[in-house]
Amino acid sequence: VGSCECYHWQSQNVKQSGVDDMVLLSKITEDAIVDNLKKRYMDDYIFTYIGPVLISVNPFKQMPYFTDREIEMYQGAAQYENPPHIYALSDNMYRNMMIDAENQCVIISGESGAGKTVAAKYIMGYISKVSGGGSKVQHVKDIILQSNPLLEAFGNAKTVRNNNSSRFGKYFEIQFSRGGEPDGGKISNFLLEKSRVVSQNENERNFHIYYQMIEGANDQQKESLGIMTPDYYCYLNQSGTYKVDGTNDSKDFQETMEAMQVIGIPGDHQTQVLQIVGGILHLGNISFIEAGNYGKVESTDLLAFPAYLLGIDPSRLQDKLTSRKMESKWAGKSESINVTLNQEQATYTRDALAKALYARLFDYLVEAINKAIQKPHEEFSIGVLDIYGFEIFQRNGFEQFCINFVNEKLQQIFIELTLKAEQEEYVQEGIKWTPIEYFNNKIVCDLIENKLNPPGIMSVLDDVCATMHAKGEGADGTLLQKLQAAVGVHEHFNSWNSGFVVHHYAGKVDYGITTSQIRRNKTKVTLWHLCLSSTFIRGLFPENLNTDKKSRPTTASSKIKKQANDLVNTLMKCTPHYIRCIKPNETKRPKDWEESRGRHQVEYLGLRENIRVRRAGFAYRRLFNKFLNRYAILTAETWPCWRGPEQQGVLHLLRSVNMDTDQYQMGRSKVFVKNPESLFLLEEMRERKFDTFARIIQKSWRKYIARKKYEQMREEASDILYNSKERRKNSINRNFVGDYLGLEQRPELRQFLAKRERVDFADSVNKFDRRFKSIKRDLILTPKGIYLIGREKVKKGPEKGQIKEVLKRKLEFGSLSGISLSTRQDDFFILHESQYDSLLESNFKTEFLSLLLKRYEEAIKRKLSISFTDRLEFRVKKEGWGGGGSRVVVFQRGQGDVAELKAGGKTLSITVGDGLPKSSSKWNQTTATWQTIGGEPGKNFLPGSLNEEKIMKVYIFWRPPSTAPPKLGSQRAPRVPAHSQNNQGNLDFLNVPDQGMSGKQRKRSISQRPPPAPKPQPQPKGPRCRAIYQYIGQDTDEISFDVNDVFDLIKEDPSGWWTGRVQGKEGLFPGNYVEKI
Ligand SMILES: Nc1ncnc2c1ncn2[C@@H]1O[C@H](COP(=O)(O)OP(=O)(O)OP(=O)(O)O)[C@@H](O)[C@H]1O
Ligand SMILES: [Mg+2]
Repeated sequence: VGSCECYHWQSQNVKQSGVDDMVLLSKITEDAIVDNLKKRYMDDYIFTYIGPVLISVNPFKQMPYFTDREIEMYQGAAQYENPPHIYALSDNMYRNMMIDAENQCVIISGESGAGKTVAAKYIMGYISKVSGGGSKVQHVKDIILQSNPLLEAFGNAKTVRNNNSSRFGKYFEIQFSRGGEPDGGKISNFLLEKSRVVSQNENERNFHIYYQMIEGANDQQKESLGIMTPDYYCYLNQSGTYKVDGTNDSKDFQETMEAMQVIGIPGDHQTQVLQIVGGILHLGNISFIEAGNYGKVESTDLLAFPAYLLGIDPSRLQDKLTSRKMESKWAGKSESINVTLNQEQATYTRDALAKALYARLFDYLVEAINKAIQKPHEEFSIGVLDIYGFEIFQRNGFEQFCINFVNEKLQQIFIELTLKAEQEEYVQEGIKWTPIEYFNNKIVCDLIENKLNPPGIMSVLDDVCATMHAKGEGADGTLLQKLQAAVGVHEHFNSWNSGFVVHHYAGKVDYGITTSQIRRNKTKVTLWHLCLSSTFIRGLFPENLNTDKKSRPTTASSKIKKQANDLVNTLMKCTPHYIRCIKPNETKRPKDWEESRGRHQVEYLGLRENIRVRRAGFAYRRLFNKFLNRYAILTAETWPCWRGPEQQGVLHLLRSVNMDTDQYQMGRSKVFVKNPESLFLLEEMRERKFDTFARIIQKSWRKYIARKKYEQMREEASDILYNSKERRKNSINRNFVGDYLGLEQRPELRQFLAKRERVDFADSVNKFDRRFKSIKRDLILTPKGIYLIGREKVKKGPEKGQIKEVLKRKLEFGSLSGISLSTRQDDFFILHESQYDSLLESNFKTEFLSLLLKRYEEAIKRKLSISFTDRLEFRVKKEGWGGGGSRVVVFQRGQGDVAELKAGGKTLSITVGDGLPKSSSKWNQTTATWQTIGGEPGKNFLPGSLNEEKIMKVYIFWRPPSTAPPKLGSQRAPRVPAHSQNNQGNLDFLNVPDQGMSGKQRKRSISQRPPPAPKPQPQPKGPRCRAIYQYIGQDTDEISFDVNDVFDLIKEDPSGWWTGRVQGKEGLFPGNYVEKI
């Protein structure tokens, strides 16, 4: 890279260090890999890819790139868009799960202290952040997150390799609903390192919980649990280590207790958990002395406290520790006798009890978490595997053997799936391929777990253990002899005088496994439950209720073997992802790269082989049908489904994006795509498509919400007129739209409003003056008041002669004194105000009124008075000489649905036929239907794709009624520039829905305007009319005319929108702007 500063080609301000994806290394050697990792590590980049595999180097310091900003950044982004990150991998898992409806898992491997547990927590945190869910789901998320501190308190400990070393293996399945909300989970735990309960190596500690409790318990707890300083307890004082750098045990204790609370462990159980922890500590202080071949409790005083805490009678505890019940068969009879134990045996019995109690307690906690988050049906899941890492200590016992065996199995999965299976697949699919050599550690796995031919180490251990009986002496020799006989010639095995060596994938380990260790690992639990008075503790030993049944106890080795294989089976059922953690040093210091350590890990992890296979091979492969399914959306031929051979469909898609032919190969059942970049091309096209659909759905959702609101408003509005006013036939079931003027796109009207002033209602209305002449006004209602906007010719200045919008009137709510209406079915209403009143006519008066009443009440805190009489009075504006006074409007019964106006002096008579009865209310006819997405005409959504994006959860679609409203094809369209009509590219969807989508909605509301004549009429001989006012057409289907223009009148419509022809152009205009001649 040299001295030039390179930056990540997509992300801004991200310096490039080495290569992000080691597939891009120019030379694939171990040196190059190590150098790249080191360079990046020193530059504080801990993550690097090998294709989809994430390499993570432990930074031993908090990196700044785990904030909400990164969570945002990696969400939904393609891998290549941002620098490598664990969030990218997490996001990929989550999205794959949703898109492909497949369970995912991530295998986090690496040696002890490499950062597996920290990685697992980042994944859980990310998923919790990006997935949705209500309060119930939040509860599950809380438990998932809180399970970490709880299980770490009881299952982690300081070792020489890691201050917070996991001493158990954990597979955490986060379960999701079909909508992608984490609504459940399940933890499977693997053999806990029990020996740690009773002894620890130098510089190591027992499990954290002991120190937490001692430091953090309150005085009352201290007293009841008999808490002393840690050096008082034999189970803690052997290693002389009590404190861990950077750990606050007291604070952690509070967190542990809090976690128990969140998980829902009841208070009394919490207490009992602590009692067991304390009880074990006190149990460890019971010591034995040799008294004539028998073990005797040294100080019986020390029996009291553990007996009390564990709920055992002290004398029974003493008996149980120093004697053993033996079944003896004699002359066909079986009787049980008590055999006294020697000092060593008594100590062993004590430790066995302590370990069993602790292990059961741990299982109880795991179970408690599982119960709190279990769900009846599993849908989707993401499994996170975080086990104890490969480790080598000074002395390596049976438990290290198990731990390393599980790591060996995980390496095997990796090899199987990424190196072996991948290459085999090419061969199987008939793709040209030159094999790449790699070390397959299956040979080591077989050495350990083979049952027969030759038996593996575990089989030999079991065998020796089963035939050992009571005889202890010489057993170790027998074990080694048998191992030598069975696997002595194995390349990965050596034996030495007091142990054996296994050549693991990650290095050679000397095991000093003695028969006593294996014997101790027989999981048979002695008959303790009989002595336990506490039901809680008895509950931890359920199998002992059946004491008579005797079966050969399962050994620890057969158990771990089974668990490891079950785990492999579980993992194999999911789509796997890998995080390979690398530990750069043993000093736990940041920016400290130990060359040899780094190189060793690079080697044994098989990174070079991984890169080579990856590079020579294909970054991506998919079964034809899965590929079709995923990218079907790209072309019309493949959407919603391809008809024809799948392979052809795949080819069709690849060609549709113009992918280079050297970039893909067709196998027998799968398509192989060479470079990730080529795949990204497809992905990006797909994203774009989904983006478009997401917007459609958002829009529909907004529409849905708006509709809901208007439905409610309509009912409220109906209530206002109920029993007071007759209704027009069409008005009851009409959908409320609010903004009938499309103010969003009308700056000339919006100019009178404040910047973000919300429009509740806007429509063109008729306003009547003192001579009852009507003129058009735009009526706008906002939470601030009522606006009446008119148009005037500019009298002077550069715009002279142009027609301009002018604010004619603005009514503050405070100045309104009431509204009056007739009882008939007309559309008139009067706004009464302190100065003068306004007589208006609007088709949408009910909608306007109901909104006005609401806003008025919100602003003024009382109801606006509303009166219904057939003799209305309105005061006119004082103007010059002829000002002031009042006018009267009288309503009379007439014929038809259209009001007829007759002005005479100061009275206007309005006659109109009968409408619907005043008691007409509540829409009784469903005019809208609600459908799921599939119902949208012309669009078809695959069920799978619904889960696609978070926003796509909304799957309600609105479809215009198919019957009730008239066809609106060429009716007055929204006043929206054509290009913005479909709203593409508008990302304002997060704003509170405005009512401004007048266009489309207007179409859906029952307009009073007639469908225009289907064909241009022949030259009319019919009536003509003269314009009383100027009218400027506001849409393409309208005509414009000036005052006194005379033109053909083609059709009069009761709605008031007449059809005329001006200079050959036919169109709509308001009938009351003209007089017939
Ligand atoms: N991404 C990280 N950022 C900062 N510190 C980290 C990170 N990963 C690991 N560490 C540090 O390294 C320590 C060891 O990491 P962790 O406990 O995850 O190791 P592990 O692989 O789980 O080891 P074990 O196998 O012993 O459980 C952590 O306690 C933390 O201090
Ligand atoms: Mg760990």
